[in-house]
Amino acid sequence: GNKNINAKLVLLGDVGAGKSSLVLRFVKGQFVEFQESTIGAAFFSQTLAVNDATVKFEIWDTAGQERYHSLAPMYYRGAAAAIIVYDITNQASFERAKKWVQELQAQGNPNMVMALAGNKADVLDARKVAAEEAQTYAQENGLFFMETSAKTASNVNDIFYEIAKRLPRV
Ligand code: GTP
Ligand code: MG
Repeated sequence: GNKNINAKLVLLGDVGAGKSSLVLRFVKGQFVEFQESTIGAAFFSQTLAVNDATVKFEIWDTAGQERYHSLAPMYYRGAAAAIIVYDITNQASFERAKKWVQELQAQGNPNMVMALAGNKADVLDARKVAAEEAQTYAQENGLFFMETSAKTASNVNDIFYEIAKRLPRV
């Protein structure tokens, strides 16, 4: 039969990587060039139908500014899934993403479905992080990887859909 699944999902990543933009694209189908930096965290929900289930995502969009780092465990604790976001035009944001992966591996739910999103894939002329490097890193660390663009919507629904497919069916 068809299952209803509620899944807490957290987005983590450097300031400006595009966490809020990915959520805004997924939940409202919108993009804004001058998205404001998140304060604390913001909550959204969105439902997605996959083959055998209806998944209701309860989404925590966290703030990337370092002064909010200590709040992060409140949002990833008990989360079924995480999207760790970096900006493909910003090497430091990729290093920051790896730190989040380490923190989740040490402190997060061990069954968490983790996705690595290389965002701003539309800005090809300023690329700093090779897709192959991120793919290799993701594979070695048990995440799945996609390059996304909140601006063009490329791979945005897909990354949430891929998570929904991987969630444990209780
Ligand atoms: P914090 O809330 O400060 O942690 O940042 P954030 O990760 O939520 O980033 P946000 O979504 O606010 O995006 C930062 C800037 O990048 C905004 O000006 C967005 O318009 C822009 N941006 C986000 N995603 C994309 C994208 O896929 N492509 C392009 N070209 N710009 C993007
Ligand atoms: Mg934000």
